[in-house]
Amino acid sequence: MERIRIAVLVSGGGTNLQALLDAQAAGQLTSGEIALVVSDRPGAYALERAAKAGVPGREIRRERGTGNSSAAQEDFERRLEAALAEQGIGLIVLAGFLSILSPAFTKKWDHRILNIHPSLIPSFCGPGFYGLKVHEAALARGVKVTGATVHFVNEIPDGGEIIAQGAVEVRPGDTPEVLQRRVMERAEWVLLPRATEAVCARMIASGES
Ligand code: GRF
Repeated sequence: MERIRIAVLVSGGGTNLQALLDAQAAGQLTSGEIALVVSDRPGAYALERAAKAGVPGREIRRERGTGNSSAAQEDFERRLEAALAEQGIGLIVLAGFLSILSPAFTKKWDHRILNIHPSLIPSFCGPGFYGLKVHEAALARGVKVTGATVHFVNEIPDGGEIIAQGAVEVRPGDTPEVLQRRVMERAEWVLLPRATEAVCARMIASGES
């Protein structure tokens, strides 16, 4: 059966990557196959998760302080594209990936890059809203419900078409860390594998693979 080859891009611990690997091992990812994990940070634990699952991992760093930042961006994306081409990748999943991708890159991969964001977009999203900062902002605003969103990536940070959302209650006494954990367990780790499977199935059905 035809399967879309997926690259997962990570920067950190990789619990969302783990959710995808677990879904694959459990036979819940049948239209796609995790073929490559790319980290932009050296020593990201996510790469160990990839190795344990027998998935090829690559470290591709965006060089900083080279003077011309657009040249550094182009160089980073050229190396990324080469790794994606080498593995015949059809879909990119950003799972806690902290580097920004250029408009030229997101346009080339239009509707073929997914991201998971730990809030109900359009709340608490866009530039500066990543990691614990998202949950700190939700608690400071006093919302009673938050959640996670899987969306396509375009040139606007967290601005692409929404694919799936899951709501999670905020409880009295929540700290950002406690809320982050609940959002991951109840929403992110469930939504991301399901949305990835749904997008792969749609790509195959519409002949986009
Ligand atoms: C998650 O909260 C994800 O939504 C956000 O970054 C975090 C990554 O966690 N984009 P992990 O590396 O998947 O554990």
